[in-house]
Amino acid sequence: MITTAVVPAAGMGTRMLPATKAVPKELLPVMERPALQFIVDEAVDAGVDHLVIVTSRAKPAIEHYFARDAEAEVALTRLGRHDMVERLSRFGSDVRVSFVFQDQPLGLGHAVGCARDAVGDQPFFVMLPDELMADSSLLVALSEVHGSTGVGAIAVKRMPRAELSRYGVLDPVGDEREVSGCKAIPFVGVVEKPAIDAAPSDLAIIGRYALTPDIFDDLARLRPGNTGELQLTDALASQASRAPLWGVLSDIGRRDIGNPLGWLQAVVEAGLAHPELGDAFRDWLNEI
Ligand code: UTP
Repeated sequence: MITTAVVPAAGMGTRMLPATKAVPKELLPVMERPALQFIVDEAVDAGVDHLVIVTSRAKPAIEHYFARDAEAEVALTRLGRHDMVERLSRFGSDVRVSFVFQDQPLGLGHAVGCARDAVGDQPFFVMLPDELMADSSLLVALSEVHGSTGVGAIAVKRMPRAELSRYGVLDPVGDEREVSGCKAIPFVGVVEKPAIDAAPSDLAIIGRYALTPDIFDDLARLRPGNTGELQLTDALASQASRAPLWGVLSDIGRRDIGNPLGWLQAVVEAGLAHPELGDAFRDWLNEI
């Protein structure tokens, strides 16, 4: 079972400027919950007990969010939000939260590499905090596929060709099959944001990874890729070229809150599903 998750949160969030001048993208609210809280809940539900947040000195609000705040807990208790008091008080008790700092946003691969000492010599998840998943089932599936294959397992979704150039895309070898009850496919390469006619498949990476610690050596050898950044996908490609890794196919509900439309969709969905406010919000939407 994988019990450590790395959450890279040191990027500049340029697509959400000017909001991200002052509020880190990872703390933008979806209703009253910051995006990062969805990530914490997903991780804890999948059995994670150590979160390694890769952050930047320019984003102190992220550390602040995890600091115990007795006054906020009293106010939440007064509002009857006992579930949230319970979740917030987990920080430092059943979930250990460590921070590591990325001094410059040199890319996702570099950010994950910064977590090497905090992770140590064990398999770990990487969770991109701007992709929100409906539940923790995808992490559980990745952990199971990693458990039975012994190598890295990466979450993927089949996407229409026109959308592939926004993602890392797998170069599969062989056919889709069942591994530990999950649909999975072996792959020997990955291409970051390919041109539409250069995509090796329709299997796009969707922000959740179960990785083995030898990836840190591949990350340390990275050179800037076709976007000028140190890419996690390039490290995965070099690891997969030695022995195939596994893509785990998923149709889980997901939202990319790193761009204005995706964020708005996540907020509207959360509003409609809200136990107390959902009906009133639906009526108002119909009205306008
Ligand atoms: P993104 O590319 O989506 O985030 O990286 P970004 O760079 O902050 O956003 P834009 O493109 O400028 O709008 C995915 C995740 O990886 C983190 C980001 O914080 C985000 O959560 N990241 C990215 C890092 O931690 N360090 C980096 O150098 C780059």
